[in-house]
Amino acid sequence: MSAAKFDLTTRLRRLRYHSAVRDLVRETEINVNDLVYPVFIKHGKQLKDPVVSMPGQFQLSLDMLEEEIKEICGLGIKAVLVFGIPEHKDEHGLDTYTPNGIAQQAIKKIKTLAPELLVISDVCLCQYTEHGHCGVVHKQHNNIAIDNDSTLELLAKQAVSHAQAGADVVAPSGMIDGMVKTIRQALDNAGFKHLPILSYSVKYRSAMYGPFGAATEGAAKIGDRRTYQMDPSNSNEAYHEALLDIEEGADMIIVKPAHTYLDIIYHIKSSFPHIPVAAYHVSGEYAMLKAAIQNGWLEEKRIVIEVLTSIKRAGADIIISYFAKDVAKWLQEGKQYF
Ligand code: PBG
Ligand code: ZN
Repeated sequence: MSAAKFDLTTRLRRLRYHSAVRDLVRETEINVNDLVYPVFIKHGKQLKDPVVSMPGQFQLSLDMLEEEIKEICGLGIKAVLVFGIPEHKDEHGLDTYTPNGIAQQAIKKIKTLAPELLVISDVCLCQYTEHGHCGVVHKQHNNIAIDNDSTLELLAKQAVSHAQAGADVVAPSGMIDGMVKTIRQALDNAGFKHLPILSYSVKYRSAMYGPFGAATEGAAKIGDRRTYQMDPSNSNEAYHEALLDIEEGADMIIVKPAHTYLDIIYHIKSSFPHIPVAAYHVSGEYAMLKAAIQNGWLEEKRIVIEVLTSIKRAGADIIISYFAKDVAKWLQEGKQYF
């Protein structure tokens, strides 16, 4: 590569002087097809309970789904990520795989309301266990520890039960070793060979999940998740996690969080260009922006579009975001943001 010449014939501003030229040369743009909207569903009637630390997000009871799904489809959003909030928690999270569980009911209802809407279901135990961990807990050296292999069996049952309820994609989020392979085998044996797995392959132990803990009532009540989620300091390990999940049969993979892990998204997409990568712009990242927006410190549309565009520019093919509905609305307005 030759060095840029600092004579006056090189003028990069020529491609910025006219809005149509800027449009022609723009590299990355958010599209409604890129977006996945997370929904929190619980038992009860006529409930639309605000998540205080996530302004604009709600826990909905099943009977409130109709209005919500109509809005989501009306905005042209193609996919939702379903989180169930059960009434009962127990040591092993047994509510995860009952056909009448909250997630199963929500999945069924959404598929009835909008068969064309892609339903991705989060597969994990943390909302369902009384301790709030993503797996089966046992004591080890006086500390609590997550037992990997007995957790796998439960995740497999949960994934199959979501598939039977009508889920179109399952998304295991517990960072349990072998979860993709186990779930793949279980789905295949149950007649769901066609069903894709979107694995949370690269999930850091981030402080950015705080508000989500409130939204799903699934925060860890004792200990923390550092023995299964990744150390925020590590990047090479992200490569290893993604590699293993792909070998185990993951069809698509997630990097999470997103805004604070753009380097990881870039690293993973460059390493595995053949695998679709989703980035999860998580609850804390949403909350940070919302707080500044509500204070009038940041301009909402511009900052949100900029952040999500950056996530896509880093390499994300899919963006899971609590801003999905807002962005879809703004895209429909067709206004220019850059
Ligand atoms: C649970 C799960 C979490 C999120 C998605 N699935 C929380 C956690 O791992 O502690 C976080 C999503 C968000 O913060 O928006 N397996
Ligand atoms: Zn979990």
